Amino acid sequence: MSKSVTLVTCSVMPEPDPDQQLMLDLLEGSGLDVSLDAWDDESVDWSRFDLCVLRSTWNYHARPDSFIEWCEGAAGASRLKNSVDVVRWNIHKAYLLELESEGLPIVPTAILKRGDEHQLQAVCGERGWNDVVVKPCVSAGSANTRRFGIEQFDAGELFLRELASERDVMIQPFMKSVEAGGERAAIMLGGELTHAIEKAPRFHDDDESVSEAKEVTGIECEMLESALKCVPGDVLYARLDTMKGDNGELLISELEIIEPSLFLLQSDRAQRAFVRAIESALEF
Ligand SMILES: Nc1ncnc2c1ncn2[C@@H]1O[C@H](COP(=O)(O)OP(=O)(O)O)[C@@H](O)[C@H]1O
Ligand SMILES: [Mg+2]
Repeated sequence: MSKSVTLVTCSVMPEPDPDQQLMLDLLEGSGLDVSLDAWDDESVDWSRFDLCVLRSTWNYHARPDSFIEWCEGAAGASRLKNSVDVVRWNIHKAYLLELESEGLPIVPTAILKRGDEHQLQAVCGERGWNDVVVKPCVSAGSANTRRFGIEQFDAGELFLRELASERDVMIQPFMKSVEAGGERAAIMLGGELTHAIEKAPRFHDDDESVSEAKEVTGIECEMLESALKCVPGDVLYARLDTMKGDNGELLISELEIIEPSLFLLQSDRAQRAFVRAIESALEF
């Protein structure tokens, strides 16, 4: 009997997944019994699957606790990739500070705890920031991600206060390179760095626009390798997102190891690596 894999999605997708059909076709083409199931569909029996692969679970940030609980259930009933330990570590972007303390260059980040009194002016004054991005620590798809220049700090204070009343918030200086397409994502599948893509800038409610496949650079390779040493467990897939700093240096903006788009349409090599990674996960 062929092994069964489910690609885990969500009931109401905030946006379509361009790789979804391709992933289904690739896995089916390699003789697997493959389906697509939503983590928030309570009628699914996850024990039916040999492997559950987190993919477009793009609404999890609205209910992170339920999502982690679901991950624990799926990991108990089946196998979950990436693992629940990886999800727990990666879901809150305070992991960036851990990467920083390991010597990795990150986009400068201030983390503000939920419920505390915070002032954008105070945080930014202390750090010398006058053009910033305010966003939730648990987020995806640019949800509640806003930019405030110094002349908009009054609006920024209100936005921060409202957001921080409900959740942990992060502030970063706005990386100007992003406006000129200075954002890249390097993709790893089953230990192989397959390709990178470059992104056009994106804020709340914008669609995503990405380039064709680019070569992964040596520095991305090194960064990803070092970053993954901080992660509690192996990963089937990973994406290292970077932005260029003001001096052109590469800074980590995210290590995406829960549900990153893998931009498989852009790369035959990545398509093959994806299938191999799933097949080898099924062998264990
Ligand atoms: N510090 C920043 N400087 C410039 N642009 C930013 C910054 N933070 C976020 N953005 C923009 O917002 C998008 C979403 O933010 P990101 O940190 O990638 O969170 P997520 O992908 O989880 O929503 C980024 O891809 C980028 O276009
Ligand atoms: Mg992102």
